[in-house]
Amino acid sequence: MNNMKKNDNDDFEILRQISKKPDSTQRELSKQLNFSIGKLNYCLKELQKKGLIKIKNFKKNKKKLNYFYLLTPKGVSKKTKLTINFLKNKMTEYDELVNEEHNIIQSDPELKKDINKFGIGHNINAFDEVIEENKTRTKPLFKTIEVNLRRRTVIVDDVLSYHKDKPIPSWIELSIIDVCNRSCSFCPKSDPKVAPDTYQKMQMNLINKLTNELKEINYKGSVVLCGYGEPMLHKDINIICKKLSEVSFVEVVTNGDPLKPKKIRELYLNNVNKLLISMYDGKHQVEKFNKMIKESGVPKDFVILRDRWYDEKKDYGLKLTNRTGTINIGDQEKVGKYKKCFYPSYQFLVDWNGDIFLCPQDWQRRVTMGNMMQEHIFDIWTGKIMEKFRKDLINGKRVDSPCTLCNAEGTVLGKNHANAWAKTYSNRI
Ligand SMILES: C[S@@+](CC[C@H](N)C(=O)[O-])C[C@H]1O[C@@H](n2cnc3c(N)ncnc32)[C@H](O)[C@@H]1O
Ligand code: SF4
Repeated sequence: MNNMKKNDNDDFEILRQISKKPDSTQRELSKQLNFSIGKLNYCLKELQKKGLIKIKNFKKNKKKLNYFYLLTPKGVSKKTKLTINFLKNKMTEYDELVNEEHNIIQSDPELKKDINKFGIGHNINAFDEVIEENKTRTKPLFKTIEVNLRRRTVIVDDVLSYHKDKPIPSWIELSIIDVCNRSCSFCPKSDPKVAPDTYQKMQMNLINKLTNELKEINYKGSVVLCGYGEPMLHKDINIICKKLSEVSFVEVVTNGDPLKPKKIRELYLNNVNKLLISMYDGKHQVEKFNKMIKESGVPKDFVILRDRWYDEKKDYGLKLTNRTGTINIGDQEKVGKYKKCFYPSYQFLVDWNGDIFLCPQDWQRRVTMGNMMQEHIFDIWTGKIMEKFRKDLINGKRVDSPCTLCNAEGTVLGKNHANAWAKTYSNRI
């Protein structure tokens, strides 16, 4: 299941530990890593020979246990590569687990019946850890939504990392183009008063700046091309994905209309990790897209097909929300049902021009957290505006626009990040 070589695994663990706590002694490292001193010593020497770490003696004596360890620039870059490998393995592991789970469910009629009756997802114990407020959920989740949430959970909750002692995001959504070829009734893009098609596109200089800044903060999460339009309509999508893949997982979310086997293959060759296709028209699309995927020659698990062709009674197959008061359609949860929200603890959204918004629910686009062409993303992320929203929302206060009108369940993901922020704020004088 795990393709990471044993040696790479050891190197990864050591480099990670050293980068977390550069002044650890050999004894501390051996404890933290659960390696014998002999094994650790051997590995450290190998890493030093490869130029990945520097070894310093802080007490000016020759006893090995008084050495401490630092990553060299080459070591930092190796660690990033190994981290990305580690995450890729996690994704593969996850996909395999989902397949296994799927096969088990399919081969057990009783289980299948139960699942159909109750829905799976947050109703099962495995999710207790990531859920807080949704114990009162009134609607079961559909299978594809649940898979989608778990896919996110791998990245969002596994990879809590810090820069300058502050938790950094693990999920960044980009809106690379402000037009869509469809007009779905449940989506604010169908209302020109809320979200008119402006045909504006994100430029490469913004992608380059974002990539550099993510490198600087040692980003370890995903960048998702989704947002307020149809990303496949951007003619530079391949080069955008390739650039972003230098620093992150890359995912593309599409309505599937612009896809052809060649386009799917190009995305794959430009290092996209996952392609998510929302099928809004009907079951027949499954066959159409499966044929396309086969022709494109990409691995089957590169694509996730999402069944979203249902009617109002099934919430259109979505985890339906009112998109901060811009959508009335369907059986919406009451505003005020959910209070806490962890979105600003683990993610943000970048619009085509670099404006940063709180979350993908915010279709009002009136309150920006900052503009990333004018400031470093880390400064916006840790700035006063984000901080105010984050703190209020961790404490269950949806007191400012756009949150006052939002009915989204904001605690499904990001609990670890929210806890880390709560700790950061309470430690501050
Ligand atoms: C605006 S679309 C952009 C990406 C692409 N055009 C697509 O349709 O997949 C982003 C996502 O929001 C979902 N969405 C739109 N309106 C929604 C709503 N009211 N509640 C929940 N999800 C919604 C869509 O199904 C899609 O997965
Ligand atoms: S409360 Fe709603 S609008 Fe506010 S950050 Fe959370 S999901 Fe976004």
